[in-house]
Amino acid sequence: MTFREDALAGQHIVISGGAGAIGVAVARALADHGARVTVNDIVPDVDALARLDAAGVIKDRMQYVRADLTSAQAVEQLIEMARAKFGAITVVCCHAGMVQAAPIITYDDDVWDQLMDVNLKAAYLLAKAGARSMLNDGTRGQLIFTTSWVGAVPWPDIAPYSASKAAMNMLMRSFARELAPQGIRANAVAPGIVGAGMALRQWETEPDYRARASKAIPLGALQTPESVADAFLFLCSDASKYMTGSILLVDGGCSLYPMD
Ligand SMILES: NC(=O)c1ccc[n+]([C@@H]2O[C@H](COP(=O)([O-])OP(=O)(O)OC[C@H]3O[C@@H](n4cnc5c(N)ncnc54)[C@H](O)[C@@H]3O)[C@@H](O)[C@H]2O)c1
Repeated sequence: MTFREDALAGQHIVISGGAGAIGVAVARALADHGARVTVNDIVPDVDALARLDAAGVIKDRMQYVRADLTSAQAVEQLIEMARAKFGAITVVCCHAGMVQAAPIITYDDDVWDQLMDVNLKAAYLLAKAGARSMLNDGTRGQLIFTTSWVGAVPWPDIAPYSASKAAMNMLMRSFARELAPQGIRANAVAPGIVGAGMALRQWETEPDYRARASKAIPLGALQTPESVADAFLFLCSDASKYMTGSILLVDGGCSLYPMD
């Protein structure tokens, strides 16, 4: 336990992309510390529930809602179902994402559109609907955006992904600025190269990526999903209550690239 067991008691946290490799670790950590968690993803219920169970997410404190958050209507339904089960939402985590690597001069335009829809538009729709729900409930809540160290570093072959994460950082700062008077905060978690999920898939399938990435982590090892979850725990806890508009970089020093 990094934080007190009841550090998040009374909270209801919604997380998109929560059945993914990092998402299940975050959901587990949040529930372990007393939060009720509405997990969203696009994968079928049976798969999502199996992954969440394997990750050890406490069943009584979690519900799964399958929805494609690139649709505004689906986002509204998610927020409704979240409130119906666990009541007023205190934190919304815009965590769903995708990456596809290719040199920028040959990048597929349709993949660009898809990537911007999943990474940026879905985050915008979810943060907006989540904030409106908080305003309706009179909740002084928080929006958390999962961005990346590459939102500020031009890592090769993933220009659209980097651009989407840079845009998410600015979107987060805009939410933070506009909603501060109503007591709603917004922050970002920017992980490094995690040994799970999308980075692991690149690590395992792209030799060039692996060669570059293995030299790019000053702290020397691939990041664990649990270290990302710790950043969420901190932001969801009272310890972050004076933070808004911040990008919490948790990247083992990757952004200090180039190493040699
Ligand atoms: N793995 C890394 O090294 C790394 C580093 C920095 C940031 N991130 C970010 O962390 C987040 C999670 O990444 P991951 O590595 O766990 O990848 P992952 O692919 O395991 O998880 C992403 C999840 O998002 C879901 N998703 C995709 N489109 C969706 C949609 N339209 N609506 C709802 N859910 C959708 C996927 O089904 C998947 O479960 C992403 O935002 C990613 O950009 C990852």
